[in-house]
Amino acid sequence: MPHSARIWNYWLGGKDNYPVDRAAGDQYRDIYPEIVEVARASRQFLTRAVRYLAGEARIRQFLDIGTGLPTADNTHEVAQRVAPACRVVYVDNDPLVLTHARALLASTPQGVTDYIDADLRDPDKILDAARTLDFTQPIALTLIGIVGHVGDDDEARSIVRRLLEAVPSGSYLAVCDGTNVISKAGVEAQQRYNQSGAVPYHLRSPEQIAGFFDGLELVEPGVVSCPRWRPDPAVANGGVPAEVDQFSGVGRKP
Ligand SMILES: C[S@@+](CC[C@H](N)C(=O)[O-])C[C@H]1O[C@@H](n2cnc3c(N)ncnc32)[C@H](O)[C@@H]1O
Repeated sequence: MPHSARIWNYWLGGKDNYPVDRAAGDQYRDIYPEIVEVARASRQFLTRAVRYLAGEARIRQFLDIGTGLPTADNTHEVAQRVAPACRVVYVDNDPLVLTHARALLASTPQGVTDYIDADLRDPDKILDAARTLDFTQPIALTLIGIVGHVGDDDEARSIVRRLLEAVPSGSYLAVCDGTNVISKAGVEAQQRYNQSGAVPYHLRSPEQIAGFFDGLELVEPGVVSCPRWRPDPAVANGGVPAEVDQFSGVGRKP
């Protein structure tokens, strides 16, 4: 069976995928060729956001929910490059990610990494298991390419609210998710994918994505198409266009 984490890995240029995944990924790409740039743009946002959080925002603890298969710049690598003492807890509900989790546990000696096999829909289980983190100190919650897996808007908002309630003032939320405003082909490809029996992914409007940040102070430039979020002038964006159907933002809990 094709599998979403492996298809994502294929689009990102990774090696942890099989012919069925590549076939499903190619089928999606035939309708919506930009998906490869969308996947890359989303991953580049993760890198810039984590670098900002560990750097300018001086965050030392990360809860990365919807980790995906290990890739070139995992959250702990980006964060610990800035500050080696960063503690990073990864969460995913996919058994395949679990089998690859060892690669995520290679922390610096000064820092810590941990992996929790849990579902975003059960935030209390995640919070209980994430005791490697000190909940009296600020924590960055990173939800990159995962909230779309929770189709119901009220449920998604209540999960994000519950996670934010558990972290202290000065904590951050970073979200990046698929939208439905720029490309009709993207919406069609997603509809076909969702009917294929794979775990569905629901595209949201930029306003719905911005809603996850209610009550937080949005870091400039707000919730925008992800290549527009603090682009790194020193790095060529690998052909990723300025606007893709993937919106992202970072907010601070006051
Ligand atoms: C599109 S990938 C994104 C991976 C990574 N964050 C990135 O940006 O490259 C989504 C990940 O979320 C995980 N996921 C999907 N639904 C989930 C859920 N309900 N609970 C926990 N993880 C989930 C999938 O297994 C997959 O690894």
